[in-house]
Amino acid sequence: MKPAGKIEMTQPKTRPATGKLGVLLPGMGAVGTTFMAGSILARKGLGQPIGSLTQMGTLRLGKRTDQRSPLIRDFVPLADMNDLVFGGWDLFHDNAYEAAVTADVLSTEHLNAVKDELSAIKPMESVFFPEFVKRLRGENVKPSQDKMELAEAVREDIRRFKKENGLDRCVAVWCGSTEVYREPTEAHESLSKFEEALRRSDPAISPSQVYAYACLREEVSYANGAPHLTTGDSRAMLELSREMHTPVSGKDFKTGQTLMKTILAPGLRSRALGIRGWFSTNILGNRDGEVLDDPESFKSKEVSKLGVLETILQPELHPELYGDLYHQVRINYYPPRGDQKEGWDNIDIFGWLGYPMQIKIDFLCRDSILAAPLVLDLALFMDLAHRSGLSGIQEWLSFYYKAPITPEGLYPENNLFVQLGKLKNTLRWMQGEELITHLGREYYD
Ligand SMILES: NC(=O)c1ccc[n+]([C@@H]2O[C@H](COP(=O)([O-])OP(=O)(O)OC[C@H]3O[C@@H](n4cnc5c(N)ncnc54)[C@H](O)[C@@H]3O)[C@@H](O)[C@H]2O)c1
Repeated sequence: MKPAGKIEMTQPKTRPATGKLGVLLPGMGAVGTTFMAGSILARKGLGQPIGSLTQMGTLRLGKRTDQRSPLIRDFVPLADMNDLVFGGWDLFHDNAYEAAVTADVLSTEHLNAVKDELSAIKPMESVFFPEFVKRLRGENVKPSQDKMELAEAVREDIRRFKKENGLDRCVAVWCGSTEVYREPTEAHESLSKFEEALRRSDPAISPSQVYAYACLREEVSYANGAPHLTTGDSRAMLELSREMHTPVSGKDFKTGQTLMKTILAPGLRSRALGIRGWFSTNILGNRDGEVLDDPESFKSKEVSKLGVLETILQPELHPELYGDLYHQVRINYYPPRGDQKEGWDNIDIFGWLGYPMQIKIDFLCRDSILAAPLVLDLALFMDLAHRSGLSGIQEWLSFYYKAPITPEGLYPENNLFVQLGKLKNTLRWMQGEELITHLGREYYD
């Protein structure tokens, strides 16, 4: 019998990253086009993929005295940036260049340098049900059919995209708008119930779920960059992921304010400093901001943003430090700012004998500049996971998400540094290297 707590650690066998990898984006808006443009610019040597762990990050192997810290991309067999082919679906007819101009994130100089490549990326017709994104109207939408037929049409898109571009395999990263908040229903209970629900066009099935279903059926790994219900909280989709040996991960890219929160909160907790209140507010004026101005879409975002402190601080273990924490998050749509969001945090903390102190953060960030490298990393790591035979939830990619999906009954790990340790140890495990525990006795014994 296995000793309690001991887990199987058989190293997976990873297929090499041969041939081309298609990166399919449901949603080619600000994040999607900034990712595509930036990747092509980096390929041409006209910009650096800053913020991307797969391209710029290193990891330590062996002892600190061994001096082995290769680049992650030299250590694990990731697809090469030059082998990526971009595609996607959108509600609007704009090609990726036109959409990038509308999104107004990158400079004219940058966009002109990749105009030809971006103009050639034309969105496929989308799957859209307006009740799930109330602030947008679809123009480039598949004709109305039952939801199973729509899923079949997306599968056909994927097969055609693969064939036309001579691809070896594909991954999908949802970069579409945030859909309204929904809880799982009976339709999400099992794969057979979900397929039945698709055939009768059950109103509980959202566009993102149709894409995810189609992708998994085509063995296309699926990463969810938005906070809505798609894969992790749907037993049906997890069943399909396992059945098709195709991984899923999510949800909601961890970029601006929540990134800061998951950097700072673990530090305060590590020093057993108390927190009485954390008030976060944002102004942003891009299309994402417009969609989130709808209370039902905002609810999806709010739930995802609020969850992080709870799991980092664990008030049930430290009621005297975090039991009375008042946490609030606001997003205000303010068009003049466009993609250049500003996020303020006021944090009321307390120290020795309960004396109060305050921390203020004013983060003048750029939403899509922070999100684009995450799309690249997720595409490459999800492909790596797939080639390594991993399926179901990829918790080691929690590092990238505000609301990491986990199996039922397991709370998510939101501490950024624990998430990074988990990610790097997973890469070491995949390559048969020793895991790093930071115990460090070997330097002294
Ligand atoms: N930028 C960030 O820092 C960040 C962080 C976390 C999450 N996100 C999420 O990433 C997503 C993309 O953000 P963005 O700033 O690019 O938004 P955006 O509005 O610029 O782009 C979203 C695009 O998705 C398209 N779309 C909506 N529904 C679709 C469907 N059913 N099929 C195909 N296309 C569809 C829209 O037409 C739009 O072009 C949003 O859900 C956002 O909440 C962004």
